[in-house]
Amino acid sequence: MKKDLFAHKSKSWDMNSKRVKNAKSIAQKIVENIPLDTQMHLLDLGAGTGLLSFFIAQKVAKITALDNSPSMLEMFDDKKDEFACQTDTIQDDFLQHSFETSFDGIISSMTIHHIEDLTALFTKLFSITKDGGFIALADLESEDGTFHSDNEGVFHYGFDTQALSMIAKEAGFTDIQIIPASKIQKPHRDFGIFLLVAQKIVS
Ligand SMILES: C[S@@+](CC[C@H](N)C(=O)[O-])C[C@H]1O[C@@H](n2cnc3c(N)ncnc32)[C@H](O)[C@@H]1O
Repeated sequence: MKKDLFAHKSKSWDMNSKRVKNAKSIAQKIVENIPLDTQMHLLDLGAGTGLLSFFIAQKVAKITALDNSPSMLEMFDDKKDEFACQTDTIQDDFLQHSFETSFDGIISSMTIHHIEDLTALFTKLFSITKDGGFIALADLESEDGTFHSDNEGVFHYGFDTQALSMIAKEAGFTDIQIIPASKIQKPHRDFGIFLLVAQKIVS
């Protein structure tokens, strides 16, 4: 079994007010930029303890939370009754998982820097998004490797958003936008967070 890289952080994850504030800002940008409705079934990729899902829940019917960390998903499940929509959880690696359904939209916060193969990531995202659906992925702008105190499991020191948009385009997504979403302040510097929004329009 693969090591749970978040096992030592999961219990106190939600106690960090900067993290909660960041997830709330990202959720606000998603709500401002995407017409969500209460029929929608979303996937939260790398949902962790559910910070982003929590702030989106009242706008949709259901959120499926996928994460490969059992300890983070355990925290998600502990809070299950607090979400304003239906939820379910899948514990698996995103790229390895065989999905039985497709989604009206895929949301994600601070996860994609943990996924090495970005072409495989966007190809899979495209394959599980319904026609007319969207992706809304938030993560770090390019950084100098000092955001995390330990870079184990970190494959990207943030992202060049133009290069990331090209990968999304090559996978088939359209109407790609990069929206400044949040800022995380650390004692030594600030880190910008972007939101990549894109559509899947096949027909
Ligand atoms: C930095 S945390 C963010 C958690 C949550 N989205 C938030 O904003 O609080 C990244 C999450 O992505 C998950 N993750 C990393 N790589 C993954 C993968 N390949 N498949 C599924 N989940 C993954 C981790 O287990 C972790 O819970």
